[in-house]
Amino acid sequence: MLDDRLPLNARTFTDERVSPSESFVEQANVTADDLSAFSGREGWKRAAAFLDWEEEFDRVFEESSGEFFAGGKLNAAANCLDRHLDERKNQRALVWEGQRGECRTYTYLELFREVNAVAAGLRSLGVGQGDAVTLYMPVVPELPVTMLACARLGAPHVVVFAGFSAEALATRMREAESAVLVTCDGYYRRGDAVSLRNRAETACVSLPDDVTTVVVDHLGTATETPERNSHRYNRLRETHAGERVDPVVRESAEELFYIYTSGTTGTPKRVTHTTGGYLSHAAWTSHAVLDIKPADTYWCPADIGWITGHTYVVYGPLALGTTVLLSEAGIDGLSRTKPWELIERHAVDIFYTSPTAVRTFVKAGSEYPDSFDLSSLRLLGTVGEPINLRAWRWLYEHVGGERCPVVDTWWQTETGGHLITTVPGVHEMKPGSAGVPLPGIEAAVLDRDGRPAEAGSGGYLVITEPWPGMARELSRGERWAARDDEAVPDLSAFEWAYPTEDGAVVDETGYITVLGRVDDVLNVSGHRFGTMELESAIVDIEGVAEAAVVDAVREGQRVMDAYVSLTDDATETEMMRETIFDTIEGTIGEFARPARVVFTPELPKTSSGKIVRRVLTDVGSGEEVSDTSAVANPEVVGEIRSSLNIE
Ligand code: PRX
Repeated sequence: MLDDRLPLNARTFTDERVSPSESFVEQANVTADDLSAFSGREGWKRAAAFLDWEEEFDRVFEESSGEFFAGGKLNAAANCLDRHLDERKNQRALVWEGQRGECRTYTYLELFREVNAVAAGLRSLGVGQGDAVTLYMPVVPELPVTMLACARLGAPHVVVFAGFSAEALATRMREAESAVLVTCDGYYRRGDAVSLRNRAETACVSLPDDVTTVVVDHLGTATETPERNSHRYNRLRETHAGERVDPVVRESAEELFYIYTSGTTGTPKRVTHTTGGYLSHAAWTSHAVLDIKPADTYWCPADIGWITGHTYVVYGPLALGTTVLLSEAGIDGLSRTKPWELIERHAVDIFYTSPTAVRTFVKAGSEYPDSFDLSSLRLLGTVGEPINLRAWRWLYEHVGGERCPVVDTWWQTETGGHLITTVPGVHEMKPGSAGVPLPGIEAAVLDRDGRPAEAGSGGYLVITEPWPGMARELSRGERWAARDDEAVPDLSAFEWAYPTEDGAVVDETGYITVLGRVDDVLNVSGHRFGTMELESAIVDIEGVAEAAVVDAVREGQRVMDAYVSLTDDATETEMMRETIFDTIEGTIGEFARPARVVFTPELPKTSSGKIVRRVLTDVGSGEEVSDTSAVANPEVVGEIRSSLNIE
């Protein structure tokens, strides 16, 4: 039942509408007329026009292959750098603030030179078109530089978030068949030095083939290594400084990068983004939704290791030739004043963040933003999760001064870029609701049988027309309808459809409020966790019989809990609990550490043996368990409640 799967937290809906300020509308990149001129598949030419093509495409969409801009050829790095040199070579492209107060800036010309040197260096190590290069670094300038160097060579990059463990890194490298790794010695995390180099080495020794490694000296601890296959980044770029690498011209549908995300299986899922379709989508939505202009300073504190960082830190903003602020510390690593200090000091125009970050700001108090001059801001945006009304209003009032529209952008790793949101100079905002499908996007909220859900009642969010930013895996015409899966409605009425596996509600005016995942994927603090991935790590521990990982809402934040039952010969000790935490940190990373590990003699199950996660989520959220009729062993609910000291 869908109702069982819809996320529980009681969301308050509002019919309130907020109009964008006149001052914003007057200068907005996109007007209502622009939107009405964009229609159907041919409309996507408008997105492609944001790029320079080496060879013009001859078809917007090729039905048989599912390719956008077929026949077109281009290079992504040339679109982010080379073509800006005439007009803005001395404009800053990147402004980086390190954890220890360092600041580095790169103009477009400097970034162009850097990228060429690193591309020449990688080429000297044998990297060529189609070779997957893994990047495992925190947010340091070398990360976007190396991404663009790979793009220049036509080598797909695979950025692995630096919080992932050695094992998680190795799994991704193995799947991507990547034989080159660019990493760094380490980074500071909440004041402690974390060695990335050690983790990278552990990963490499577990791989079947030799890996060529390039190490960025970020902490000053990268030592000369005698190993044949290990190189220092700085030495490599100095050796190749001044060299030029001709951008490798790629077909529109050829891959720009792979990124791994969590799905409903036990292993991470590869998502492939294309050169022409993805980059057009990234550039067009950066223009239309984020309203980016070349003269802006734009800040999105998302880690580059996730899709948001790829599309809306690196590719979209640089394709438009703007100045991008990078902060090594994510929002959770910044002090209470720092975000506002950075916005004031760099005169940030656009701030694109996550609802989790906003809730952290709300908790800290409005006196922090209120004591800084945030008048440079023009637009605010959120991504990654639904935003609750209180957080929305706080952001709008205390950060945006009721002058800046807030775009609540719905999209996914698989979609490449925004699909549902408001266009800030055109649409009214409805706090808590993402908005409407962008032009060219066809979205529907369907019931289980594939019929449009009634306005106001929950259903499955499905995209029914292809779009340029979609992952290549989606264009291959996979027949979702054949899946016997509760997270997918009946799609047999559609030629092609992509079930997003999100639940949503549409109102009478077509505004879509996204509720959250309906599959076995959790979204916690904007990070995606496959329950299977975590559970299979836990059940591998000796003494564990079964495990269920579920989300819960406590103190307004979504957290993740693990419920574990042990075999008869094992005992519930603190040591066992620590082993479970350590195992998750070892197989995935510290960021996946559950808030609680709760031991229970049994998990709540249906008579056919399926775990009823909803019950665990209710208990973990401190809520009444509304309905246990589907649970064959309801007594465990009471046992779990008493072990958690819930009356
Ligand atoms: O559940 C939706 C939620 O994030 C999921 C996608 O996660 P991921 O692929 O990691 O990408 C996150 C960054 C794009 C979606 O299936 N989500 C994303 N944006 C929103 C959202 N939920 C509600 N409102 C949003 N604006």
